[in-house]
Amino acid sequence: MSKATLPIGIFDSGVGGLTVAAAICRLLPHEHIVYLGDTARLPYGNKSVATVQRYAIKNAHFLLKQKVKALVIACNTASAMALEVLQGITDVPVLGVITPGAQAAVKASKSGAIGVIGTVGTIRSNAYQNAITALRPDARVVALPCPLFVPLAEEGFMHHKATELIARTYLTPLHHEDIDTLVLGCTHYPLLQHIIAEIMGPHIALVDSANTAALALHNALSTRELLTTARKPGARTFYATDISDRFQEIAQSFFGPGFGTLEHLDLTE
Ligand code: DGL
Repeated sequence: MSKATLPIGIFDSGVGGLTVAAAICRLLPHEHIVYLGDTARLPYGNKSVATVQRYAIKNAHFLLKQKVKALVIACNTASAMALEVLQGITDVPVLGVITPGAQAAVKASKSGAIGVIGTVGTIRSNAYQNAITALRPDARVVALPCPLFVPLAEEGFMHHKATELIARTYLTPLHHEDIDTLVLGCTHYPLLQHIIAEIMGPHIALVDSANTAALALHNALSTRELLTTARKPGARTFYATDISDRFQEIAQSFFGPGFGTLEHLDLTE
């Protein structure tokens, strides 16, 4: 069997990475994907680097056992803390979402004043700050953790008053920073994009990693001649370490009612 027919492995701590998986399926509809949401151990965003690396290695080992031809870390926190570690344990290409997010931000920003919101772990790692200034050395990056956004998104509070109030509390200080672009530096945040956009106003471009990460994956597969030549829609297999109705609802909202198969996975020691 040719390597190009193998699936693409994608993991996140929960449902947020489905935003990246959906972008990958839009760009590469004939590829098979295997998605793992580590919902039992979510959130990653407030955990130590050592713990997130340990979880990321477990997730990667599971996906590598499924014989994936590439691995996408669809979680900003795990990308910030474990990209190099995972690149060191396998020969398949391993891609994170930080550099794609930084590329999207630098492309969108005219002034170079760029806001980044993410989990405590992502912001503390300085990964976005470093990736943005590596691409544009004169950029001014204002980084802000928004830790309550993840549980709100996981809870399905996309249109809830509580989410609006919390978002206003977090984001209002950014109005004094004169930014023209805001990176949604956590895969869960695009699920709250409508609320964030309303608070930030029309003059601030909101960007996330999903589309640029899908493009980076396309390029990585294409250079290695690993793009499938199949012309049928690819199979979508989803695993979650804790299955909830919410996971199914959100997967359905992205991929439709027949979104693929969803199986429970036990990744405990
Ligand atoms: N999806 C993760 C990220 O992109 C955040 C969720 C979590 O804290 O586990 O950073």
